[in-house]
Amino acid sequence: MKIVVIQGPNLNMLGVREQNIYGPMKLEQIHAQMKDFAQQNGVEIEFFQSNLEGEIVDRIQECYGDADGIIINPAAYSHTSIAIRDALAAVSLPAIEVHISNVYKREDFRQKDIVAPACASTIVGFGPFGYHLAMIGMLQILNEIKAMKEMQQSQAQPQQ
Ligand code: DQA
Repeated sequence: MKIVVIQGPNLNMLGVREQNIYGPMKLEQIHAQMKDFAQQNGVEIEFFQSNLEGEIVDRIQECYGDADGIIINPAAYSHTSIAIRDALAAVSLPAIEVHISNVYKREDFRQKDIVAPACASTIVGFGPFGYHLAMIGMLQILNEIKAMKEMQQSQAQPQQ
C-alpha cells in the first residue's frame, strides 16, 4: 500500500511562520514521524510540497494508478482552488485533508473549504498531530477497501 502526502503553499515555512498558530515543528520533522509510522505499519509513503497550484494538481494526477491514498494539506488553496478539488475527484482515490490550525476559529475567508467535499475526511485544529490522525484514518480506510475487495472476490468464486 502506498500513501502520498501533499503539502501546499507556505507549509515549507513551518517552524518559522506564525508559530503562535502553527507551532514550532518543521515540515521535515512532521514527515519523519509519518515515515516512522508508515514503516511500522508496512506502508510505503512519499512526500511532496509545492507553493504552486499547478504542481499540486500534477502530483495528484500522478497518484492515479500509483498510490492507494492521498493525505493533503492544500493550505491557502483549500479556500480557493477548484483545480485541486477537481484533481482529487478525477483520480478518485481516498483522500484525507489536514489543517494544522482550526480554520473554523479563524478569519472569514478560511471558513469556506473548496477541497473538503472531494475528501473522505478533513482533520482540523490538532496541530501537527493531525497528520498522525490522518495516517491512522487512512490505514483504516485502506484496510476497509481491501476487506471489501476480498469479500467481493470470494463471492465471485464458483461454489464447490
Ligand atoms: C492551513 C490553514 C490555511 O488556512 C492556511 O492558509 C495555511 C495552513 C493549516 O494547516 O492550518 O497555510 O492549511
